[in-house]
This record gives sequence, C-alpha cells and structure tokens, in this order.
Amino acid sequence: MANEEYGATAERRTGTSPGRRAVLGAAVLGAGAAVAGAPGVARAEGRHGHGHGGDLPVPTVIAHRGTSGYRPEHTLGSYQLALDMGADVIEQDVVPTKDGHLVCRHENDITATTDVAAHPEFADRKTTKSVDGAQLTGWFTEDFTLAELKTLRAKERIPGTRQRNTLYDGRWEVPTLEEVLRWAERAGRERGRRVWLHIETKHPTYFRKLGLGLEEPLAKLLRRYNRHRRHSPNFLQSFEPSSIQRLRKLVDAPGVVLLSTANSRPWDFVEANDPRTVADLIKPEGLRWMASYAKGIGPTLDLIIPKGPDGKLLEPTTLVRDAHAADLILHPYTMRNENTFLPADFKKGTDPTAYGDAFGAFKKYFATGIDGIFSDNPDTALLAAADFRAGGSVNE
Ligand code: G3P
Ligand code: CA
Repeated sequence: MANEEYGATAERRTGTSPGRRAVLGAAVLGAGAAVAGAPGVARAEGRHGHGHGGDLPVPTVIAHRGTSGYRPEHTLGSYQLALDMGADVIEQDVVPTKDGHLVCRHENDITATTDVAAHPEFADRKTTKSVDGAQLTGWFTEDFTLAELKTLRAKERIPGTRQRNTLYDGRWEVPTLEEVLRWAERAGRERGRRVWLHIETKHPTYFRKLGLGLEEPLAKLLRRYNRHRRHSPNFLQSFEPSSIQRLRKLVDAPGVVLLSTANSRPWDFVEANDPRTVADLIKPEGLRWMASYAKGIGPTLDLIIPKGPDGKLLEPTTLVRDAHAADLILHPYTMRNENTFLPADFKKGTDPTAYGDAFGAFKKYFATGIDGIFSDNPDTALLAAADFRAGGSVNE
C-alpha cells in the first residue's frame, strides 16, 4: 500500500522550499575523493571523522527505530538486528507512561504500533487528544501504567508496505529505555565495543505540561548507566530546541536539534510565541545559535537536497557547508529502500513496495558531505557508506 501513513512527524510536512534551492557547488556532486576536498565537507574525509566521539565512522549509519525496514520498530528485536548488522548507532524515540517510565515508541499514540485495539480491557482508554496542534484519536502511553503497557505487544506500523515484517507481530513487548540501556551495556561487554544510541525526546513540551517532563528521567537514566558524559556513546535529539537546551544543563552528552520542513516551527516555539521557523534556524545566525548548545542538527533530507515538482532531486543546498562552518555535524533523516519513499529518480519499476535504487540515492546524499544518516535499512546504508569511503559505488 503506497500511501500508507508512515507516522513520521516530519515526513507528513515535506515539501520543497524554493528558498532553499541554493547550489552547493559542482564539487560536491563528485565521488568521495572529490568531496573530501570540497569546502565545508572535511568531516567526510577518512573513515573516522572529527565530528563524533572518535570511534564512529563517517558517514555514520544510524539505524532508524532499529531495523524498521525488517522488524516492527522500536522493539528489542529491531535493535538487536541493527547491532547484528553492524549499524554504527541505534535510534530510540522516547515517551512516558502514566507513572513516569520512559518507553521506546515513535509517538505516544500507540494505536498503529501495538495490539492495544485488540485488548477489550483497554477499550475505554480510547480517546481524542490534541498533541502539538494535531487532533488524534487512539490510545496514548500517558494513559497507561508501565505494568499495563507491558501486557501489549508491538506490531508492524505499515503492513501494506512491509508485509514480511508482520511475521514478527506480537513477538516483542514495548521496551523501556532502561531495558535498552541494560541491553546495550550487556551487548557492548559481549562484543568488546561501545553500543552507540541516538535517543530522541518526543513531544517534550506537551508532556511537561502534563507533569511528565522527559528530560529529568532521561538524564537520571543516562547517569545510572554512565552515559551522561561528553564522550559517552550516545546522541540526544529533539525537534524542540528547548529540550536539547534543558538536557544540556543536566548532562554533557551531545545534543542534536532535529529540523522539519523549512516553513515549519518547532512546537516549543509555537507555545512560546517564538516566530522563528526552520528556515530561520538554517540561516547562519540560527545555526550559530544551535551550535551554542548542540553538537549537531538532524535535518530532513529535503533540506540537504530538495526535490523538484517531479519528485526528482535538484541541486544540494548550502546547508552542509553552512552547518559545518558553524561547527555543527549533520545527521539527516530518513533513507528507506522502498520505491514509495525514494526520490523519483531512484525509483525502479511501478511497485511502490519494491526496492528502488537505494544505493544511487545514498551516493547522492553522502556526496554532500553529511556526517551520518538515519536509515530503516542499516545493512544497505552500511554498504553504501563503505562504497562512499572507498570512493566507488556499486553503480559504477
Ligand atoms: O530522529 C530522526 C528521525 O527519526 C526524525 O524523524 O519522525 O522518524 O522521529 P522521526
Ligand atoms: Ca526519531
């Protein structure tokens, strides 16, 4: 089903901003070797860049919600497969339960990613809420205790597109962040390497107003598992800059400000009557402001290379160069192998659920000098990153 709702906050609002169509320059369209010499893209040089904690390759492959191309997202099965595939970093989105535990879900509405609708004992919890300005009807984590949430099982979000993943429906619980931290600690010991995480606070202003602030329990957990330091193996991300600023006061782990479409405003800006849009934040002054408290930004891929009206990629913007000039790394999102999610120039055939030329798309994005990328298919992304570092491509 090609038009299945992915549930990505930002993808819903994607669109090309003509104002962001500035050209980065012909050099960045070349292969890896040429890119390394281009202004503002020095971090793409060599296997280990300067933008991270030292033990991460660049471009860094971030397993989006685990291996959500192959397993129901945000489950221990999805994270384990990402680790087994060799993903450099594994992502968690976090929301709170009624009793204040942080659990890994992309959003507090758990209708699409759990079997909650099949639990008659929770039928009366179905409700309609306004979350960050959107009217949503379903079941919400903040209305469940952790014990109640643990009686549910995770399922595939987009079964029409990823039917194979439904094989695993019902296999895993909703994990707590603490369970993931314990798993990462254990897996790191077994493998003799640090397990990097990329933890996102979801709807932080909304939850703070409910008395369920995310940052304090997150900081407490990071301290408990010795992941609160500047060089700890995790990034902390949010679409709301104030969440990153709050975390900055609590822990030293590096923050990444996520950026949606150019004309959107972070929800904390809306609540605080701050008129700035994402288009303002990606101007040099906005980038310098974010660099005063964050290590990097996580823009949509469209902010790196916009698409034209035909859905094909245009020329890269100056965002990579500008962000690097402000001393910010870039972790854009999200690459997925299926035709339905790829730019039009990399689709193959007419089946929206079939794989397109993902390697071709990865090559284009890596050539801009980005420091990392979120992908639902970390195995594909790892091969593409290796091709890029070797200066070649499977398509050549
Ligand atoms: O956090 C990076 C990327 O995951 C942001 O998009 O909506 O999938 O959380 P989303
Ligand atoms: Ca995320």
